[in-house]
Amino acid sequence: MKPEQLKETILKLKDDQNAVILAHNYQQEEIQLLADYIGDSLDLARYSAKVKENVIVLCGVDFMAQTAVLLNPDKTVIIPDPEAKCPMAAQLPAELVREAKQKHPDAAVVLYVNTLAEARAEADVTCTSANAPLVVNALEEKKILFGPDRNLAWFVQRRSDKQIIPLPDRGYCYVHRMFSPADIMLLKERYPDAEVLVHPECDPEVQQLATHICSTSQMLLRAKASPAKRFIIATEVGLVERMKREFPDKEFIPALETAVCEQMKLHTLEKLYLALRDIKHVVHVPPEIAARARAATERMLEISGRATSD
Ligand code: 13P
Ligand code: SF4
Repeated sequence: MKPEQLKETILKLKDDQNAVILAHNYQQEEIQLLADYIGDSLDLARYSAKVKENVIVLCGVDFMAQTAVLLNPDKTVIIPDPEAKCPMAAQLPAELVREAKQKHPDAAVVLYVNTLAEARAEADVTCTSANAPLVVNALEEKKILFGPDRNLAWFVQRRSDKQIIPLPDRGYCYVHRMFSPADIMLLKERYPDAEVLVHPECDPEVQQLATHICSTSQMLLRAKASPAKRFIIATEVGLVERMKREFPDKEFIPALETAVCEQMKLHTLEKLYLALRDIKHVVHVPPEIAARARAATERMLEISGRATSD
């Protein structure tokens, strides 16, 4: 099928199947343009909790689709390419969380949503890059087991008096580890008027060069609100494409053109079409795990929502 015909067919199928298409900010442009909603992990979780349609097509990685399943036990969640699995989420097996809990019985467990549901079932609460310090500081416990991203743990530690214990010791996102302070310094020298927006999954040395450290959707909000005309963006390049499209009067410079999340890019229009046509690649979370992981996710939404309405 030609691209235009494929798009029209998907839109028609979407109605026939009573489906909604949600896409993460890192998705390819062709998917973003077709989606009903584009956002960061927190946006997608919040939005998915409110959808009326029976089928949710989640164009993102495994943990994002699992969040939609947790929040919508009665709906069908499908993922166009089931191989879209976040390597960082796989770095924290549930067993490791259980062992750490035994070692630190007085600690609360806060897990980044970039974690698989089985591990999230062991958490007291989850968080995203948009609300991690808020969630941690809302808890009573003074000691926090935090995983899997070591850099996000560092970011949170700088904004909290609590003792943050990273779990595992060195969890990381391979895409955000690609940014180097030297590259950012060079761009800052070339564009001294630019704001530097950095994702908290980047190394501390890169975070220290930022004007703002934020989630992908918070970067969009900052680009919109800021008087600056130029921005250096240290996150996956899919977001830079969205920024260019939505704010054509501003300039967005990727801190690294090759910062591509291969897993996010696995989804294509063709795969979306086939998954929607056949309602295939349905994401399942076993009920006993889902109940506990849902509680941790809902607690995060509750803390986040409270902050928004304050
Ligand atoms: P955001 O929630 O900031 O979009 O981050 C998700 C992610 O996978 C970053 O690598
Ligand atoms: Fe996972 Fe990193 Fe890709 Fe985000 S960018 S989905 S954390 S590998």
